[in-house]
Amino acid sequence: MDKAEQKQTGNTIFLSHAAKSGRIGNVISIASGKGGVGKTLTTVNLAVALQRMGQKVLILDGDLGLANVDVVLGLASRYTIYDVLNEKVTIRDIILDGPMGLKIIPSGSGITSLVNLSYLQRVQLVETISKLDENFDFMIIDTGAGISAPVLHLNSMADKIIVVTTPEPHATLDAYAFIKVMQEEHKIGAFDLLVNMTRSQEEGTEVGRKIAEVADRYLGARVNVIGSVPHDSQVRKYTMARQAASEHSTFTVAGQAWNNIAREIVETTGSGATSQRDFWQNLVRFKKSARVNENSQTL
Ligand SMILES: Nc1ncnc2c1ncn2[C@@H]1O[C@H](COP(=O)(O)OP(=O)(O)OP(=O)(O)O)[C@@H](O)[C@H]1O
Ligand SMILES: [Mg+2]
Repeated sequence: MDKAEQKQTGNTIFLSHAAKSGRIGNVISIASGKGGVGKTLTTVNLAVALQRMGQKVLILDGDLGLANVDVVLGLASRYTIYDVLNEKVTIRDIILDGPMGLKIIPSGSGITSLVNLSYLQRVQLVETISKLDENFDFMIIDTGAGISAPVLHLNSMADKIIVVTTPEPHATLDAYAFIKVMQEEHKIGAFDLLVNMTRSQEEGTEVGRKIAEVADRYLGARVNVIGSVPHDSQVRKYTMARQAASEHSTFTVAGQAWNNIAREIVETTGSGATSQRDFWQNLVRFKKSARVNENSQTL
């Protein structure tokens, strides 16, 4: 970071607001309790479908899973956010170009591990990424499975949380656990639910209805079933070929289902706007209270 842009007084660092920061219309996180339910595939396919509808989409790959977004799309990411921090490259150098003009910030060693950055590295990260002055209609975050604190934090920053589950009892129980803990820890009371790899439309509807009913009765949480995506053997074929199924949606039933959900998102989403700076500043704010206790620093 340009030292001239940083003024340090006591324990508080004030960030310069000179750099123009781009805006994000809506932030959507793709979450799940259990791993392997199709978050990455959902992220990629919704993003491609939205982009094809004329929306500008940025994927933030916050996942540490085996099949990362860049791998699924067949893109090679040479650099990560850590290289930006080490001043080897700029933020523009790490953003990957996906199909249909889609942009991707690859995970490197996982966005959630950014919470382990030192205080000064956090300030530097916010400054460098804030220089991204492009506007996006949507940022979709592939957040990774589970209910670890960094994953929950990442989800809490979204305008819309889409919880992905499969019809299997383990997956639905973990989806419910995710909703419960998000509500307890982050006071979030509304979620969208996507049932993936269903064997029939009825199965998707039934699984969604049950989760929504239980979440309403025991948690008072609102769960909107945004849709279901059938199990489709073509998906694996396209994943192996590293192509997003939405590109072939005319031929795959799963691709069509993801397209329909993307349409629903566009039709039901209002136009919010968060600056890139605010988003990244909130992201690295994760241990703020712990750090404040430790050494009274604020960001
Ligand atoms: N609708 C579908 N039909 C058939 N296979 C699917 C479908 N959705 C996902 N899959 C397959 O399921 C596997 C897991 O998908 P994916 O990697 O998207 O899950 P994930 O939730 O991101 O996993 P992780 O928690 O490890 O990050 C992949 O092999 C993918 O091809
Ligand atoms: Mg994944």
